Amino acid sequence: MTTKPRILTGDTPTGQLHLGHYVGSVKRRVELQDSHECYFILANIHAYTTRVDKSDEIRRDSLEIVRDYLAMGIDPKKAVIFLQTEVPAIFELTFLFAMLLPFNRVMRNPTLKDEIKVKGLGENYSFGFPLYAVGQTADILAFRAHSVPVGEDQVPHLELTREVARKFNQLFCNVDEHADDADHEKLGGVFPVPVADVGKVGRLIGTDGVNKMSKSLNNAIFISDTPKQVKKKLGQLYTGRQSMTEPGDIHNALFQYVRTFIPDEARVAELERAYAAGDNIGDGHIKVEVAQAISELLAPMQERRKQFEDDDDTIIDILKDGCARANALTEQTLAMAKDAAGYGFFKRALCYE
Ligand code: TRP
Repeated sequence: MTTKPRILTGDTPTGQLHLGHYVGSVKRRVELQDSHECYFILANIHAYTTRVDKSDEIRRDSLEIVRDYLAMGIDPKKAVIFLQTEVPAIFELTFLFAMLLPFNRVMRNPTLKDEIKVKGLGENYSFGFPLYAVGQTADILAFRAHSVPVGEDQVPHLELTREVARKFNQLFCNVDEHADDADHEKLGGVFPVPVADVGKVGRLIGTDGVNKMSKSLNNAIFISDTPKQVKKKLGQLYTGRQSMTEPGDIHNALFQYVRTFIPDEARVAELERAYAAGDNIGDGHIKVEVAQAISELLAPMQERRKQFEDDDDTIIDILKDGCARANALTEQTLAMAKDAAGYGFFKRALCYE
């Protein structure tokens, strides 16, 4: 039995991953692969909440994301990469957990409210849309994960998850309502109360220099971008600076890139000094240097990605193996939860063809 702490995190398949995903999240996952028991979920049913008419696209995106993971250095021998839709315990727990949360509590979730606004859903979203927030609590708790590495925007979902875990343990496992979050498992709770682990670069600015990098805002540098594309996109990054001798603001978007992508710390310090002093250094020059650093970061990823480019079978095999490993764990959790909640009448096993 392993004693490594267990983490679960993942992505909704919405297209190719970009640099924002890498620095904000995937890079950290790659670092955690050895020290943690890692589960990475492709939240494909969540993609259906707003694109139920685009199932072909979602299927394609789900496979593309695995290619991006592999390209970025996630190793399927170490980490478990799996499809949400192949893990039935998640759906069974979602229904049960939905009973532990007042409807109004779910609807107060600021991330949901924000999405309704940003995506222009108005009052016309499906019932399944807010349900995904409950589903996300099940994604996490089905694995009895201790920690969830995520970006800032996911913290409200983690709060909801923590509430579900506490409520379940209190209601069905006699855990005292004043118990410390950290003690719930020790006191007989089925679920640990998981913590959000928010990374350092929670928010990479896009190449518009203003908004968070995102595919839909057209300001993203993709993992598959060529050096020429990277250079062109960076060239468009607006800084508002007029000349090489004008003192620049080292907290602008360009310098977030400098600090994030130029690996040589002495060089970063020198650029910051020269920029702040207006010491004969142009934005264009710095952009070229950053573009080169980004392309050097991407080159080995693109090389690795080529191996799987037209090979869906390998990707599906990785997912099948990942789903089997995910189910081995989550079926155990589900049996524990059903026993606790009073409907564990007999044992059952999933079977694979
Ligand atoms: N909602 C997350 C996103 O859009 C994806 C996700 C689904 C997730 N289930 C999760 C992240 C569980 C962490 C843990 O990025």
